[in-house]
Order: sequence, then structure tokens, then C-alpha cells
Amino acid sequence: MPVSERITKVTASQTMKVAAKAKELRAQGENVIDLSVGEPDFPTPQNIKDAAIKAINDNQTRYTINSGTIELRQAIKEKLKNENNLDYDLSEISVNSGAKQSVYNALQAVVNAGDEVIIPAPYWVSYPEMVTLADGVSVVIDTSLETSFKITPQQLREAVTEKTKAFIFCNPSNPTGAGYTVDEMKEILKVSREFNFYIIVDEIYEKLVYGDYKFVSFASLDLSLKDRIIVINGVSKAYSMTGWRIGYTAGPADVIQGMNKVQSHSTSNASSVSQAAAVEALVGPQDEVEVMRLQFEKRRNYFAEELNKIDGIKCNLPEGAFYIFPDVSGLFGKSVGERKIESSLDIAMYLLDEVRIAAVPGSAFGAEGYMRFSYATSMESLEDAVQRIKSAVSKLN
Ligand SMILES: Cc1ncc(COP(=O)(O)O)c(C=O)c1O
Repeated sequence: MPVSERITKVTASQTMKVAAKAKELRAQGENVIDLSVGEPDFPTPQNIKDAAIKAINDNQTRYTINSGTIELRQAIKEKLKNENNLDYDLSEISVNSGAKQSVYNALQAVVNAGDEVIIPAPYWVSYPEMVTLADGVSVVIDTSLETSFKITPQQLREAVTEKTKAFIFCNPSNPTGAGYTVDEMKEILKVSREFNFYIIVDEIYEKLVYGDYKFVSFASLDLSLKDRIIVINGVSKAYSMTGWRIGYTAGPADVIQGMNKVQSHSTSNASSVSQAAAVEALVGPQDEVEVMRLQFEKRRNYFAEELNKIDGIKCNLPEGAFYIFPDVSGLFGKSVGERKIESSLDIAMYLLDEVRIAAVPGSAFGAEGYMRFSYATSMESLEDAVQRIKSAVSKLN
């Protein structure tokens, strides 16, 4: 009996091949440095853990309201007002099991079969697959290192057709770390006003920005588009809470209601204990966020500088997130023994086999010729990783 056509269209993650091999090597006792991870390496701050323990002891262990507890939605409302200058009622906020579910529910709520969804590449791997799961069609806009991985307003205009239903805007970006300036976002908003599509804004990396870059929420730059902008955020990255699975969405009431319907028939509600922890994350002391951010910034500066010293590898200094996305096409055509390097997957497998470095090939993000290295690991590991990458590349002719 065949499985559904929809599920057949969803591709198994390319990153799995590298991840599976890395796991296998580790199980054999090999010292693998994992630069493929998409999560902070810090523990969740103690005050947040304590809030969760208290919630358990207070028996907050039952189903919650489908769209999230009043306490958490109130905390989100205040966060959006105070930090992002955005006004939402509680009925316009939905708490989900991770920002991944937020994006999924949003696409389910707005996309009809055959609708087009514009996605800038390099993209987070799940976006196009979620569009497929909503029976939509992804329309990809390519960017490159030369344009700092940012789309131009003209590219957006050219991608729009009468079938365009949504545009996914991730800022700062996974996998490139690119952060748009206010002026760049205003240009994108200008084009968006000419048409009629939803803008799904993924701001999960909001707090992880570096140097002179100042994060401003996209939606706050044009309140006239409030009925078409769906803001997605969460606690996973900023508070090192990936395992707690709390994300949230703020948007037009009908979209939020639709998302709540999807959720009511799939996961019901996000974990009650995690929601209590997320309240503390949002309303409690924020010092730990800054401690982690400063660590990430130090690692970013070091790692980007060192990677740029390696022949055949070129990168910029990303504004945010915890990834470096170098152009490695300078290594294509090189070989060592029988092994020829012709793709980013070849490089990923070579680094793993030769020097036990796990990283994700750019092709997984719709960007062949690049690699994604996560610097969500200790400085010592990064120093070791740099030496290993240098040694592997030096063997290629
Ligand atoms: C761009 C982007 N959006 C959303 C998510 C999902 O985050 P969560 O762990 O809250 O589901 C991730 C996680 O990797 C991400 O990189």
C-alpha cells in the first residue's frame, strides 16, 4: 500500500547522512567535534529551571488552554510591547510546541493547495518541506556571500505571482546569520505593500546579534501591514531552551484562530511545565542572555577570522545567530588520493572522515558551494576545529 503523495514529496534531510555518520563514529569512541548543531551549548538558566520545578510541585501538570496559558500569553504580549513595540491582544497570540510548530501551524492556516510561498535561500531546511506539507509550492530567491545573503527588493518583486500567498522572512537568518538593517527591511516592506500576501516573520534569533547590529522587529516598521504579518519567536535559542519546546506566534486573529485549530487537533497545547518555565524566561532576570550572547560573539569573531585564513574558504562576519556560512567552492575540483571534492556534501564527508569535524553541507539549505558551521560549542573545541579544518584542507591538491 503506497504512503501519501504528500509525504513522498517531502525529502529526507540531507544533513542526516553526515549526522548518522558522526553518531556512528562517536559510538566507536572517536573524538568528533560537532559543528552541525542548531542549539546553544549552555544549560538553561537556573531561575527558569526552578520555575519549572515549582510548576511541577504546584501540579501545573494538566492540559492548558489550547492557545497557551493566560500567564504566558500575557508575558508574550508584554515582551512584544516593551521590546518590539508591537501591540497584540491575547487572542492574537498562540503558544506552540517550539517555533518550528509555529511556522508549521502558520503555513497550515494560510496556504491553499497550489499556493506559492516565497523563501529566500539559503533557507532553514524545514521551510520548503513545511510548504510541501501544506500542499503549497516553494518559490526560492537565491542570494550569495556577495550580497551578504540578503535579498533585494527587486528580487522579491520578481518572485511574486498571482499565486503568491506568503513570504517567509527569517531575520537573523539560519543558516547564514545575516541580519537585515532597518533600511533594508523598509525596502522589503515597500514591495510587500504593492501586493497582497502574508509575511511570516521568523525572529527566533532576535537576541543573538553582535557588533553594531541592532535588532528591530520587521512588523514594527509598518503597522499598516499588521493584518498580513505573522510574527514568530520563541525561547529556544535566546534562553538555551531547545528541549523545552516553546515557541509562539502573534498575528491577525483569524490566522491565530486557524493555527489554534490545527494545534487543537494535533498537539492540543504546548507542555504545561514548559509554559511555566517560559513565563520565567520572559519576565525574569535577563542577565544570562547577555552572558551567552557575549560568548557567542567572541566565538563568532574568532572562528570567522580563522576560517578566512584558509585557502579556498571565504566568509563574512554574520550579524546574528550562531552560524558561519562560508563559501567553500574554492575547494571544488581538488582531490586527495582517489577522493575528489565536487560538492559541499563531499566536503562535509571529507571533513568527517579525515579530521572528525561534523558540519552541514550548503546544499541542505538550498545553497551549493557553501557549508554551515555552528559555533555553539566551546572556544577550546573551536580552536581544535580550526586546526583540524586547516590540516584537512592542506591535504587537498
Ligand atoms: C530559523 C529557525 N526557526 C525556527 C526554529 C525552531 O525553533 P524551535 O526549537 O523553537 O522549534 C529554528 C531552530 O533551529 C530555526 O533555526
